[in-house]
Amino acid sequence: MNTHKDNNIVQHAKITENEFIKFKEIIYKTTGIELKENKHNLIESRLIKRLRHHKLDNYSDYYQLILKDKKELQLMINQVTTNETSFFRENKHFDYLTRKILPQTKERLRIWSAASSIGVEAYTIAMVVNEQLSPRHLPFEILASDINIDVLKQAKEAVYEIRFSENIPKNYLHKYCLKGHGDMQNKFAINDYLKQKLSFAQINLTKPISPQVGKFDIIFLRNVLIYFDIQTKKNVVKYVLQHLKPNGYFFIGHSDTLFNISDEVVQVMPTAYQTVFQ
Ligand SMILES: C[S@@+](CC[C@H](N)C(=O)[O-])C[C@H]1O[C@@H](n2cnc3c(N)ncnc32)[C@H](O)[C@@H]1O
Repeated sequence: MNTHKDNNIVQHAKITENEFIKFKEIIYKTTGIELKENKHNLIESRLIKRLRHHKLDNYSDYYQLILKDKKELQLMINQVTTNETSFFRENKHFDYLTRKILPQTKERLRIWSAASSIGVEAYTIAMVVNEQLSPRHLPFEILASDINIDVLKQAKEAVYEIRFSENIPKNYLHKYCLKGHGDMQNKFAINDYLKQKLSFAQINLTKPISPQVGKFDIIFLRNVLIYFDIQTKKNVVKYVLQHLKPNGYFFIGHSDTLFNISDEVVQVMPTAYQTVFQ
């Protein structure tokens, strides 16, 4: 057997080709994420913790467990998503928001960060929007959603390691962030004023989205389409755009494309779109 046990704790377990195919299929079915052929190491490194937790020494037994146990399936999903993100990532979108969209805004804004990871995209939006709308007494709200409930929990807590503050402009840091003390001195938190602008939901973008989510003026769907195959990208964009208001704005990540994916929106600058006038 390809395992190494030390005091009954599995240190390492090698995934077989059959096991890898089964995980690849269930990950695709539940999240839309398409694992490439050579991602065996990635699965091993991300799932070994779950095997250890259940004192299992092979991936077939763990696979049987996730088939039976919905909670464990969610924990597996939490492990396999890639959640890399940063404040003010792809700043040209926030620049466009500041220069083009917000000066024209005349009423309440609803904005959706549709694969929000740990929430820093949504808090970036909140800072930028608040700067322009609060002096004009215009309300706004932001929905942050993700498939991974661990990252949503962190988004709700809004406590981050100091390294995440690097890209936040100094005046925003002073206005919207609180430096940690004592045990928390390597961390900072988003203040309550900004936190109350956000709500959170677990939404799987590869399945039809509940109409209760409502319609938005602006949707950010950034750096998530890259994990999907063409048909899944088409479905995701279709489901998401059903929630964009007429003339609403739609932002995708720098390595994503809508070419051959959707013609429901027109490009206003690279990776930024608007619904066709209706
Ligand atoms: C790389 S992060 C992007 C975060 C942020 N949008 C940004 O650009 O910085 C991708 C996120 O997509 C989420 N994700 C992956 N598949 C998903 C799905 N089917 N439905 C909703 N979210 C998904 C992951 O959990 C992860 O947090």
